[in-house]
Amino acid sequence: MKITIIGSGYVGLTSGTCFAEVGHHVTCVDNNPEKIETLLKGEIPIYEPGLAELVQQNVAAGRLKFTTSTEEGVRDGEVIFIAVPTPPQPDGSVDLSFIEKVAREIAQCLKPELGYRVIVDKSTVPVKTGDKVKQTVRRYAPEGVEFGVVSNPEFLREGCAVDDLLNPDRIVIGSNDDKALGYMQKLYEPFVAPVLVTDINSAELIKHAANSFLALKISYINAVANICEAAGADVEKVAEGIGMDKRIGRQFLNAGLGYGGSCFPKDIKAFIAISETLGQPFGLLKEVERINADQMNHFLDKIREKLWVFREKKIALWGLAFKQNTDDVRESVAIKMARVMLGEGASIVAADPQAVGTAKRFGNLEGDISYADDMYAALDGADALVIATEWPQFATADLEEVAKRLRTPLVFDGRNLLDPEDVKAAKLEYYPIGRPAVAG
Ligand code: UGA
Repeated sequence: MKITIIGSGYVGLTSGTCFAEVGHHVTCVDNNPEKIETLLKGEIPIYEPGLAELVQQNVAAGRLKFTTSTEEGVRDGEVIFIAVPTPPQPDGSVDLSFIEKVAREIAQCLKPELGYRVIVDKSTVPVKTGDKVKQTVRRYAPEGVEFGVVSNPEFLREGCAVDDLLNPDRIVIGSNDDKALGYMQKLYEPFVAPVLVTDINSAELIKHAANSFLALKISYINAVANICEAAGADVEKVAEGIGMDKRIGRQFLNAGLGYGGSCFPKDIKAFIAISETLGQPFGLLKEVERINADQMNHFLDKIREKLWVFREKKIALWGLAFKQNTDDVRESVAIKMARVMLGEGASIVAADPQAVGTAKRFGNLEGDISYADDMYAALDGADALVIATEWPQFATADLEEVAKRLRTPLVFDGRNLLDPEDVKAAKLEYYPIGRPAVAG
């Protein structure tokens, strides 16, 4: 099929590329000429494992192209995806102005002679946005244009987006009309995954409800971690024990510094705002947010307790990205923590396998911070190692080397990456989350 994706950001670029990979002809549109320039040169503006190769292969095969022209996209794609940002407003509600603008632009490019078009919302949007898109397109499109509107939320995770897109757990298609649904079913035929068909409102809600539930799982285990800490129990064992119940599952029960990134913090806020607008306030999600925010403060208190003060202390910080396998530092707890430590007078040497560049550009970190190319080099003469991101290379670190390079052998593990037995053998003093400390 011929499809168009409007918005070549994380979701748009990765999903467009994966649609091309399964055999569709894809036009990716973005209004940022520099981004399109970069993509036309065969480079990708984000770090996502496996994506660059896939972009190059599909461009070479003639199935993937890039343009700044919405008109070209609307002409070429029988299915047109909207994948533009839906950022939060100061009150937590969603700013839908990009979606509205794209809906208007699509409408103005539609012509009766192009034939039927399906307009699909892939961005995460509040329930009832589909109605608004339909109303806007109807209002701005010329007389005689035929189109359908569909909601098709995306569930990819950064860092494993290609695999999530090619092998999804499920595909959700929200459609109130059979013709549009037929196009969507054909589009997803090459994928081996269960397809759930719903009305548009339900599909939109599924996305916010799913992300909120995952965030709830994380806050739940973090609250349990604090109880474990107070009781001298081990949250890793507790998570294993409760996760073995198939109704609960072990995934997303990793205690740590809490969730960050461009999705969960924004989507939980949005769902709280949506529920309030609908007269059904979702207090539980406010508690999820509170636990998440407290998690970092609790961890910082633990560091303060051992270091006494941050002033004139040198901290080796492992991790800047909001999670592993990405260079994304949006709403990264690692960055937020660095800001607090710098503010209290610490000096930081940070290391991250991918996110040093993005942290320098977007981290807004002021104070005595420098960056090491090598994670071990960051340790030289430091008063403590703080692990803030769950990169696998941190989990398999050579702990003898860590002990040798630190000035004082203090390790604060905000992601429970290290094995307490190995830590003990390396004679490190170790403070994880929700697990007994290994002291001296
Ligand atoms: C999340 C969802 O997992 C995707 O399904 C969804 O499509 C995406 O948001 C989105 O709405 O676009 P993502 O933000 O890329 O994906 O990353 P996750 O892997 O979900 O991690 C989110 C945060 O939770 C990270 O900061 C991670 O460190 C934290 N986390 C995750 C934990 O603290 N504990 C866990 O057990 C799992």
